[in-house]
Amino acid sequence: MSDTLDMTMMHAMHNALRREAEHLARVTARFDGDPRSTLCTAVGWDLLKKSLHVHHTAEDQVLWPALRQALANRPEDLTLLEALEAEHAAIAQVVEVIDLALTDPEFGLDRLGDLTDSLVTGLTGHLTHEEDKALPLIHAVVSQEQWARFGEVHGRQMGSEAHRLLPWLLDGASGQTITTMLASLPEPAYQAYRHQWQPAYTSLDRWSAAP
Ligand SMILES: [Fe+2]
Repeated sequence: MSDTLDMTMMHAMHNALRREAEHLARVTARFDGDPRSTLCTAVGWDLLKKSLHVHHTAEDQVLWPALRQALANRPEDLTLLEALEAEHAAIAQVVEVIDLALTDPEFGLDRLGDLTDSLVTGLTGHLTHEEDKALPLIHAVVSQEQWARFGEVHGRQMGSEAHRLLPWLLDGASGQTITTMLASLPEPAYQAYRHQWQPAYTSLDRWSAAP
């Protein structure tokens, strides 16, 4: 257990997910077009889905098992873990149904709006739930080694998409967060981030239909 786990990445990811949930809500609330044609090709939707997958997979594979082991004799806390896992599954299911709806011309716009509302509400509620209930437990029972392993798996999940997901993750983050997050990058990746990845991300119009 440790009081000094560095939660920079967790908070940066949660903030980025909240930021993009707001974009998604705005796109689907517009009255000047069909959100299906936007979401079908919008880079923002693709990046949101990929980041959700990365983050939730790393939590499901590494963080929740570490917590479950540490909390084996605390049934109330184990119930929280079950709730968080169920929230992950529900979010993944809504994302899947939205993608199916985007390819179905018969799917009503109202129903699509209900689905995206449900995703935004479900995701933001889940992030708050995790921050309020799980982060204190993580601080209390997760070791530095387990936390480092979570960070490694999270980074590995980004894999070949790191060049897109890292600038996405750090969009709007504080200077301190950016410095902390980039400190662990090998020098070639750091240089690529500064001179290629970040400029390429900045040039994206994420929440418009691709031309
Ligand atoms: Fe999280």
